[in-house]
Amino acid sequence: MLDFIGRDLSEFLRNLDDMHQALTDVMPAAEMPSFHVVEENSDRLLVSYSSKRSGLEPFVIGLLEGVLHRFGRQGSVRLISNESGKSIFEVETG
Ligand code: HEM
Repeated sequence: MLDFIGRDLSEFLRNLDDMHQALTDVMPAAEMPSFHVVEENSDRLLVSYSSKRSGLEPFVIGLLEGVLHRFGRQGSVRLISNESGKSIFEVETG
């Protein structure tokens, strides 16, 4: 499934919502997160994350690090803001 989400980092992150949304057809009770690439340049991406759950930000850092690793990037991920159900992560793409 991961192969279908995107062929590069930016495309992968931009398609995450559609992938999670498609799963709600078979998992109607799932509470899906929402991700958006809000800014992109040659060495970093800013990614917003919204959820009805709180406290999952460290988990999301690990997931985003895994996505970087998947695309062979040496970058890093850090949380730069977190308020009322919406967080922004800086993904340095290395
Ligand atoms: C094939 C890959 C993936 C599948 C099949 C998948 C599937 C799911 C499903 C079914 C849930 C809902 C759990 C529930 O409420 O019952 C979920 C939640 C979540 N997914 Fe994915 N996911 C995938 C990849 C990813 C990736 C790559 C990321 C982030 C980079 C991600 C981030 C999350 C997060 C943070 C949640 C927790 C829900 C929340 O934040 O409220 N997922 N995923």
